[in-house]
Amino acid sequence: MSDRSVTLTAPDQALLERLLPVARRIFTETFGSLYESGDFERFCDGVYRSGGTMSRDFADPSVHWRVATLQGDPIGYAKLTPLRAPVADARAGAMELQQIYVLPDWHGAGVAARLMRWGLATARAQGAPEIYLTVFDHNERAKRFYTRHGFEEVGRCTFQLGDRIDDDRIWRARLEG
Ligand SMILES: CC(C)(COP(=O)(O)OP(=O)(O)OC[C@H]1O[C@@H](n2cnc3c(N)ncnc32)[C@H](O)[C@@H]1OP(=O)(O)O)[C@@H](O)C(=O)NCCC(=O)NCCS
Repeated sequence: MSDRSVTLTAPDQALLERLLPVARRIFTETFGSLYESGDFERFCDGVYRSGGTMSRDFADPSVHWRVATLQGDPIGYAKLTPLRAPVADARAGAMELQQIYVLPDWHGAGVAARLMRWGLATARAQGAPEIYLTVFDHNERAKRFYTRHGFEEVGRCTFQLGDRIDDDRIWRARLEG
């Protein structure tokens, strides 16, 4: 299917509710095999249940969203927030691309690229001088994609799920000189 049939939408509450299980599915298909299943399900419940942390972010006006839909059904999304990653020397107004998640059938189809272009343009429009993201160091596909869109590794952080602590990397793209 062509990505021209995919629409990028600023979600309302009803679309967000339909996005939650899709976001959970993408997260599970990408990272689920790395973790003990009980810990993983508890983490997902905390994030992706209605009223969980993803829903709470939706109620935060400083968080920007775009959902990719096909005939009204969510197939991916991106979320842009003020900087949350632990960056000591970030410039004032820096933002963070917190998630860019697309269903596997749509990888390589240009949907993620459109979400990324929206994220970069929105951060620029907010006056952000730079944009950060964090990425699991073994997510080679994501790292290639981020490199193509002007990001480079600038630091490290950790991501804890259950007892497991993973080595994540902080990447940055500059949006102005
Ligand atoms: C990461 C993601 C957003 C990228 O979008 P995409 O449409 O798949 O990206 P593209 O196909 O345009 O680009 C991927 C690049 O990785 C390359 N690639 C594909 N599979 C790869 C693999 N297994 N190892 C290394 N590189 C790989 C592609 O050739 C392409 O390289 P290029 O940029 O040099 O041409 C998407 O794959 C996704 O949603 N993944 C699941 C969720 C996820 O991991 N999100 C990011 C969390 S930090």
